[in-house]
Amino acid sequence: MNILIVGSGGREHALAWKLAQSPDAHRLFIAPGNGGTARHGTNVEVKDSDIPGLVALAKDKAIDLVVVGPELPLTLGLTDALTEAGIPCFGPDAYGAQLEGSKAFAKNMMRDTGVPTAEYAVFDDFEAACAYVREKGAPLVVKADGLAAGKGVVVAQTVDAAIAALDDMMVKAVFGPAGSTVVVEAALKGEEASFLVFSDGTDLAILPSAQDHKAVGEGDTGPNTGGMGAYSPAPILPDIAAPDMAETTVRPILRRLAELGHPFKGVLYAGLMFTDRGPFVLEFNVRFGDPECQPLLMRLESDLAEIMLACVNGVLADTLVRYAPEAALCVVMAAKGYPGSYPKGMEITGLAQAESEDGVKVFQAGTRAQGDKTLTTGGRVLGVTALALDLAQAKAKAYRAADAIRFENSFMRRDIGDKGIKRHAFVTRHK
Ligand code: AMP
Ligand code: GLY
Repeated sequence: MNILIVGSGGREHALAWKLAQSPDAHRLFIAPGNGGTARHGTNVEVKDSDIPGLVALAKDKAIDLVVVGPELPLTLGLTDALTEAGIPCFGPDAYGAQLEGSKAFAKNMMRDTGVPTAEYAVFDDFEAACAYVREKGAPLVVKADGLAAGKGVVVAQTVDAAIAALDDMMVKAVFGPAGSTVVVEAALKGEEASFLVFSDGTDLAILPSAQDHKAVGEGDTGPNTGGMGAYSPAPILPDIAAPDMAETTVRPILRRLAELGHPFKGVLYAGLMFTDRGPFVLEFNVRFGDPECQPLLMRLESDLAEIMLACVNGVLADTLVRYAPEAALCVVMAAKGYPGSYPKGMEITGLAQAESEDGVKVFQAGTRAQGDKTLTTGGRVLGVTALALDLAQAKAKAYRAADAIRFENSFMRRDIGDKGIKRHAFVTRHK
């Protein structure tokens, strides 16, 4: 089977690494890929937003399965275009991708199907939104409806801050058309976790829980990023609670999409907040999280290509999806300045030494290969990931490996996993 992976981050390196292990994988292409994906297949310079270019590439390389990493091509209709061309694609169609591409669509679908989510209202009129904010009072959360590179959510502690956020989005249009419609919702308090399932349109298979670290600084301080590290399992959502969680948070959505004639074939990711009134869905993503994908795939024991094909063909069985009982933890090494502007082109050393310990894998994100050198090209550069008996050991191992890696102007959070470790969740089954 020839496989094409779309995307260029750490998630896509992890997908390439795992799919390359499939006995059925013959040739692997990544568009556009990075320095890490090039180790497992052939990078091809086609952007993830170039839908006709990706369809042409899939035809040209006789691709049997396209695996879409990021949300943008899904919202732009890559799956629809590939399906029309007769090429199987792992990832929802553009209709289903609105779960991530439009916060109003997601909230309305949650309301209509009874999925627990914060009280909200949708506005495309600035004055009406301001009136609602004044009526409800702070704290409130203001969200740009469309894709805003993870920056379109403002948790406002005062009415003035909420109105300033509305002004930025609806009047100043800092996110362009993505902010012309907004969702204003009640602020929830609690701990967050990521809950992902594979879906074939009808049936689902649960992935173990994970937790991301969105803030750039230790102790969850500073601006939000794409994610500075992740681990799995998240002790706040133990395996035993996952089936019920699937029934209340994702099953109703998958059922409704199937009824509407848009069966969801891919990964559906619910961002959960555990409050003292129970779990609520904050958002949906229609793909693997980055960096959650890295620890999740380190734990996956079964053949990812087989699972993905089963999703596309509507024959997913949860027995196909088996996980190591160990914990995995990923530390992101970034370039100083990220999530703002940052230098590029620094040489990375120590990668082989970092990977010399058993159970360590360095997933590359913002990198490119130049001869036998690896240079930085992005803000999130590497995801140093370790598998070990429990979270504390996975943390120690991942930081040992990260400390062997050097590039100028690098930084990382030193507290990845601490929340989970504090919850004292130890995996007891040794392998
Ligand atoms: P989202 O893109 O919707 O996940 O929002 C990004 C981040 O904003 C989440 O990971 C939360 O930390 C925060 N957030 C979103 N919605 C809420 C809410 N209703 N209450 C409190 N925090 C929220
Ligand atoms: N790590 C969060 C995301 O991928 O959206």
